[in-house]
Amino acid sequence: MLAARRQFLSEGYYQSLATAVAAAAADEASIQSGWLEVGCGEGYYLSALQQRGVPASDLWGIDIAKAAVQMAAQRKLGVNLAVAAARALPFFDHSFTRILSIFSPFDLAEIERVLRPGGRFIVVGPGEAHLREIKALIYASVQPHAGNFASLDQNARWQEASRSKVQEGVLLKDAALQSLFRMTPYYWSATPAQQQHIETLSELEVTLDFELRCYEVAVGTPEPIDG
Ligand SMILES: C[S@@+](CC[C@H](N)C(=O)[O-])C[C@H]1O[C@@H](n2cnc3c(N)ncnc32)[C@H](O)[C@@H]1O
Repeated sequence: MLAARRQFLSEGYYQSLATAVAAAAADEASIQSGWLEVGCGEGYYLSALQQRGVPASDLWGIDIAKAAVQMAAQRKLGVNLAVAAARALPFFDHSFTRILSIFSPFDLAEIERVLRPGGRFIVVGPGEAHLREIKALIYASVQPHAGNFASLDQNARWQEASRSKVQEGVLLKDAALQSLFRMTPYYWSATPAQQQHIETLSELEVTLDFELRCYEVAVGTPEPIDG
């Protein structure tokens, strides 16, 4: 999955998402302050943020998969990386001004603990139509994506500051189509016959649909009480 993700992302298909993430997260207060990506994978978005002006020394990424962190390190960006779990972040309280979760799991109590007062948590998840053409090849009925915002939207400690959407259709051919398929969970839910069928396709028009939401701790929310 990691190799497929690196191959696919390196071809620029998610570039508009990377640009939107940087735009949603960046302002004068955020440049030259700590940025953390929880579940950074092989480092595509850390690299994109660095290319868009965030100094490498201010970028931190953690991932539970050692192989992912190794691949991110091989980029030699000079960013700070660690193998760690989202529910036990190896950082002091109030360390970061921007925290990102891009298609990755997170633990809200930990995010709040390591976020600076006034900081922002940027979450990217699938929009309803994301990859619906691939889902249609695997599932008898295609349910729209539910997204991964429910835990934030149901938590009174957090308020949504802004949201945006990135949606585009891309025609994927041969290796790019296979890489996308292999980097998603759909590969693992497909039967061997479905896998084989998709592997014989030479092209497919695919919808990319991303939701970006920025959250802040609600003003006047008291600190959580330990224990
Ligand atoms: C779909 S990938 C997204 C990676 C990266 N954000 C990207 O978009 O390229 C999800 C990542 O979350 C990581 N992950 C899964 N569970 C985790 C956990 N409990 N703590 C930290 N990382 C986790 C996986 O290892 C994987 O690299």
